[in-house]
Amino acid sequence: MLVAPSVLSADFGNLQRDVEEICNSGCDLVHVDVMDGHFVPNLTIGPVVVSAIAKAATKPLDIHLMVENNTFFVELFAPLKPHYISFHIEEEKHPHRLIQKIRSLGIKPAIVLNPHTPPEAVEYLLKDLDMVLLMSVNPGFGGQSFIDNVIPKAFKLNEMRNKINPNCLIEVDGGVNDKNIQLLKNAGVDVVVAGSYVFKHKDKAQAIQSLQI
Ligand code: DX5
Ligand code: ZN
Repeated sequence: MLVAPSVLSADFGNLQRDVEEICNSGCDLVHVDVMDGHFVPNLTIGPVVVSAIAKAATKPLDIHLMVENNTFFVELFAPLKPHYISFHIEEEKHPHRLIQKIRSLGIKPAIVLNPHTPPEAVEYLLKDLDMVLLMSVNPGFGGQSFIDNVIPKAFKLNEMRNKINPNCLIEVDGGVNDKNIQLLKNAGVDVVVAGSYVFKHKDKAQAIQSLQI
């Protein structure tokens, strides 16, 4: 299991220190939550702060867009060369076109599904995707509790991607901790995002390791 700590739970007064700390504690990716105050009822960070994160990070960036105008934000963040950019299918009229655009910029495209969105929504996109991110909370805030309908959904998506594109990873985001990690592993999940669990733990390396099962 790969682990992507979410910087949303970092101390923004000590952002460089916190990003360096998770990278030195064995994380696999650095998860960056971009919220625009429209698609979700919260507003986070833009390219100025994300570029400071990119400078401090020694692990690849995983940018999660929670915004209304996906294409605008893809173009805004592409110069920072993140490893992944994921966008919500609920907010995109032309997901196939945007996948192609992200790939043409040299970035791995990923699609995010809200808790109510069925995995079939990405069936005909799977062969063009590097990752599907399943939300296990309603997007907008860290520290919420895990919505467990993501487990049967991950099982179903795992079957679909094994048939259509075994290279496409499954990521889960929201309320992940050492109590639900085994269920996620059993369901075929490859990557977990963990914000409050990692940043509230007294030993971040130990927290990350407890999820790398
Ligand atoms: C929520 C964000 C998450 C959040 C996860 O909208 O997408 O990445 O930071 O935080 P925890 O792990 O605390 O639920
Ligand atoms: Zn996220």
